[in-house]
Amino acid sequence: MGPLRPYDGRVTENPSSSLPRPASASPSVDADHGTRVASMFDGIAGRYDLMNAVMTWGQEPRLVRRTVERANIPAGARVLDLATGTGDLALEILRRHPDAQVVGADFAPEMMAVGKEREGGDRVEWVEADALDLPFADEEFDAVTHGYLLRNVADIPAALAEQFRVLRPGGWVAALETSPAPDNIIKPFSSFYIHRVMPRLARLIADRPEAYEYLSSSTQAFRSPEEVAGLFADAGFVDVGHELFMFGTLAVHWAMKPVV
Ligand SMILES: C[S@@+](CC[C@H](N)C(=O)[O-])C[C@H]1O[C@@H](n2cnc3c(N)ncnc32)[C@H](O)[C@@H]1O
Repeated sequence: MGPLRPYDGRVTENPSSSLPRPASASPSVDADHGTRVASMFDGIAGRYDLMNAVMTWGQEPRLVRRTVERANIPAGARVLDLATGTGDLALEILRRHPDAQVVGADFAPEMMAVGKEREGGDRVEWVEADALDLPFADEEFDAVTHGYLLRNVADIPAALAEQFRVLRPGGWVAALETSPAPDNIIKPFSSFYIHRVMPRLARLIADRPEAYEYLSSSTQAFRSPEEVAGLFADAGFVDVGHELFMFGTLAVHWAMKPVV
């Protein structure tokens, strides 16, 4: 990635790129992975919000509200929303906590350019940053949130270590993530939806349907909620928990940085 800098709202030309592989379970870091993920999201920024609403069957606002609740944001908090994209979580934090200072950080500037134009977008501090190497001080934030970050990073433990570092002791992280369809009676239907319906919807709405084919494959390839909880615990977090939504295909995770 290029040098980190505060995001100034400038929209740049999309570099063309091949699509990334879904983040693997391997701890090794793929140096190109981040560049390709950022480029992919920049390429779909203008259609992202519509696609997101369609793919979550209109449930996204409820999931975002639940994630913000789980972050236990105190009065007057400084909050980091990582992988903020077009700012769904950042803007919800400000709606519920008007006294909060919210930093929205992402490495795809065109996603943030869309967010900046949304209502309340001028109250978010937008920062271009890689979640694997955050440009923030130790213990700078009272809470951290992120939506759909972990399945996109090449090194989940490194991402969680950075969150642990920038969070103050006693602060909470809350994350919205996709989850592999559980092995139950609805699995054939959810798999059909993820593999067949999602890419076709993408073809109707987005001009880069292959990007959503990547999203559906990364949804299936992503780790189970129990594994994600284990990774939070390995990073040093305590009081780790999660709840499932939409027949187990979406999860809200939460965890606290211990006080001592
Ligand atoms: C699916 S979008 C989610 C956006 C928003 N959080 C939401 O809930 O709608 C994933 C976002 O993660 C960002 N992202 C992925 N990996 C990242 C990384 N290593 N550092 C910063 N942003 C990252 C992408 O650029 C993209 O904007």
